Amino acid sequence: MLVLLSASRGAARAGLGRAAGVRLQSSAAGRLAVLGATYPTDGWTNTTAAILDKTGRGLLHQPSHPLAILKDLIFREFPGYAHYDSLEPVVTAQQNFDSLGFAPDHPGRAKTDTYYINRDTLLRTHTSAHQLQLLAAGARRDGALLALAKNGSAAPGNERFLVAADVYRRDEIDASHYPAFHQVEGVCTFARSEIRDLLRRANGSASAAAAAADSGVEAASTAAALSDATVIGAGNPIQPEHAAEEAVFLAEHMKRTMNRMVVGILAKAVDAQKTSGEDPAGGFPVRWIDAQFPFTSPSWEMEVQFQGEWLEICGCGVMKQFILNDAGMPDRVGWAFGFGLERLAMLLFGIRDIRLFWSSDPRFTAQFSPGRINTFRQFSRHPPCTKDVSFWLPAAGAFHENDLMDLVREAAGDLVEGVRLVDSFTHPKSGRVSQCYRIDYRSMDRTVTNDEINAIQERVRDSMVRRLGVELR
Ligand code: DAH
Repeated sequence: MLVLLSASRGAARAGLGRAAGVRLQSSAAGRLAVLGATYPTDGWTNTTAAILDKTGRGLLHQPSHPLAILKDLIFREFPGYAHYDSLEPVVTAQQNFDSLGFAPDHPGRAKTDTYYINRDTLLRTHTSAHQLQLLAAGARRDGALLALAKNGSAAPGNERFLVAADVYRRDEIDASHYPAFHQVEGVCTFARSEIRDLLRRANGSASAAAAAADSGVEAASTAAALSDATVIGAGNPIQPEHAAEEAVFLAEHMKRTMNRMVVGILAKAVDAQKTSGEDPAGGFPVRWIDAQFPFTSPSWEMEVQFQGEWLEICGCGVMKQFILNDAGMPDRVGWAFGFGLERLAMLLFGIRDIRLFWSSDPRFTAQFSPGRINTFRQFSRHPPCTKDVSFWLPAAGAFHENDLMDLVREAAGDLVEGVRLVDSFTHPKSGRVSQCYRIDYRSMDRTVTNDEINAIQERVRDSMVRRLGVELR
């Protein structure tokens, strides 16, 4: 079961061990400053200085950044929606989890997976954290929040909206995982009476009613072969609060809307490949699969095939009715999606290393321009420097890999390219477990020296002993 988009591996591991917790140097006074506000810290605090450094970067506000280009392309596909892209990343646990129906023991809440500022406050792990808040702002006509929309008049009561934002999750280190990334949330609601009217006019056909409610043309393109073999049923049920045809109408309307968006964007990528002389034969196949989320039912994921692999790019579904009820709109129903920007941008722009999005090297930034998808030309890769670290796991307490990841990021910043477990064995007599991790260091803009990497590696080893309680070998 997929628990949270792109954190499935972390979430699956989360139950296996409790975090020792990376401690902060900066919380000496028991307070942590984030984007100009300060928060009390407590035993939950695990947000590192390296992560806080990312919170103000504003990549989505740099018009020629590939992530901002993709965000703008998506915004443009939804002209009738209110567009938000300036909501701050610090949210409450209530917003991020409780308001969406996450169970108290849901693995997504674990300290090993989420950056907590304190027990009640965290860096949002997904843009869904803003669903209830923005729906309620619309229902109550909360002027201050509504004013943050860039095109408020398009959907003045937030009946339909998009939120693009940076999100944060503790995760492993490799070319496609980074603890800060970006999502676009989409929410579309309908008055139940409107759906009843549409269905009546379409003689009860949900797909005809969905087509009538949708101003755009149906997606049909060679850029993407669309396949959908999902079935609404016991494993992916309609909520008891919804009539079957109401839910089917929402599902049809959602899939129509999203197919059109994705096909529109992939068509631009196919053009870019043609221009750069690559052969985009077959385009990018797209498929729908069944999924599960605490805040939707039925639920689906959309995947795009790239170099033989299916990449999950989006989770979505019919919104749980309690969210709309809690927002003060029990007479409306809706669908929602959460779209990950990095994976799709890597595919569209041909970017192979996720760290590049955070680079300010002009050889990266100068290659892109607003509104345009073009294939990134890799500049020369500098040689890597690889170091192994072997250690005995702590006898008491637990070791969690994500603590090691954050510790290396703190010591090395973006010089770290990958961290992976290469060996693990249990001593036959003592029963102690020994592990060896391999750390690849590589700069994106210069050749690193062995001396400087040795100094970083020393800091890593030292902190591992002090903060994770391991015994080096
Ligand atoms: N928030 C989910 C994640 O990050 C993605 C998602 C799934 C968003 C379903 C939605 C949704 O709005 O309806 O994994």
